[in-house]
Amino acid sequence: MEFAALVDVNAEALQTAGEKLGLPASALFTDPQKAFESVEADFCCIVTPPQFHRGAVELAAARGLDILSEKPIAATWDDTVSVYKTVKQAGVRMLVTQNYRYTPRILTLKKAIAQLGQVNYAVGRYASDYRVRGSWGAEFRHTMPHSLLVEGGIHHFDQLRNLTNGDAETISGYEWHPGFVRGAQGGFGGGDSFEGEPCALFVMQMHNGTFAHYEGNNLASGKTNSWHGEAYRVECEGGAAILDSDHKVWILSRENGELKEREIEPVMVEFAGHSAMPQQFLDWLEGGEAPPTILDDNIKSNATLFAAITASEEKRVVNVREMLESALEK
Ligand SMILES: NC(=O)c1ccc[n+]([C@@H]2O[C@H](COP(=O)([O-])OP(=O)(O)OC[C@H]3O[C@@H](n4cnc5c(N)ncnc54)[C@H](O)[C@@H]3O)[C@@H](O)[C@H]2O)c1
Repeated sequence: MEFAALVDVNAEALQTAGEKLGLPASALFTDPQKAFESVEADFCCIVTPPQFHRGAVELAAARGLDILSEKPIAATWDDTVSVYKTVKQAGVRMLVTQNYRYTPRILTLKKAIAQLGQVNYAVGRYASDYRVRGSWGAEFRHTMPHSLLVEGGIHHFDQLRNLTNGDAETISGYEWHPGFVRGAQGGFGGGDSFEGEPCALFVMQMHNGTFAHYEGNNLASGKTNSWHGEAYRVECEGGAAILDSDHKVWILSRENGELKEREIEPVMVEFAGHSAMPQQFLDWLEGGEAPPTILDDNIKSNATLFAAITASEEKRVVNVREMLESALEK
């Protein structure tokens, strides 16, 4: 893979990245429109903050360029549906980066689950200590609405789909800001760090008879399960598959009333995590099978995310499948 050009609205960031990639000044653009008008390329990679994904997709689709885009598909449900329709109408291909499915720890967990018969339910826990403003990387993650879910939960909803092999049929639960619940942003330790909602608890009923539970917390002050250290427990017919921040995968099962614990040999792959995404994308463009997180499938993870926001706002159970079907019909 070679870089034909780079676009960044921040000239300094553009310069730094251009130098790192060894690109000439003629291949560096601060204006996306100009870049899409003049550059010859085979495909486009989108790694801007979520609210700019839609604009970049429209420019790429107008040029007939296939797209590898960072999650989430877009920052709102309306933009997500618009991206889907734009991509379909243009007849281009789009893969969504869901790198966490392909880390060795998750591939090992999947290997454990495969040994345990049917999945009953999965529990996922993500918890970071981002009580200081700016500690979650970019500033936009501290200011945007629904930041935990849009920037973080989208990975975890996608992972719960991956671990249960199910698509959310319904979702209920809440996202909240513990400061606002108490009447003022600063009314909770670290509450000033976020303007949106840093905490969430949701339950999903999946289409295949499994269930899933998600706990997300960006104000964790005790045990953390931050990025690449998320905890998952998958309860199955033949026992439970367990993964925690030590990255070890265990199968816990009962034999004659006695608890047996067995550690699972880690799975190793050549292209893990993020590097699995361009590898899958390039294979697909060259005629290989469509990867699991193509737009047509990953829109289900994104529908789960925006259904979660609606469920919390309206204090009700949202039918994710119906929400997706009716949006795509219009
Ligand atoms: N898959 C993962 O593990 C992972 C991890 C981090 C971020 N992300 C995703 O990557 C994307 C970018 O996140 P980030 O943390 O790198 O954000 P960021 O704020 O660091 O932005 C990345 C770059 O985009 C530039 N930019 C902003 N608006 C632009 C526009 N309209 N056109 C061109 N360039 C623009 C910024 O100047 C910046 O240099 C988001 O969608 C985020 O969710 C994914």
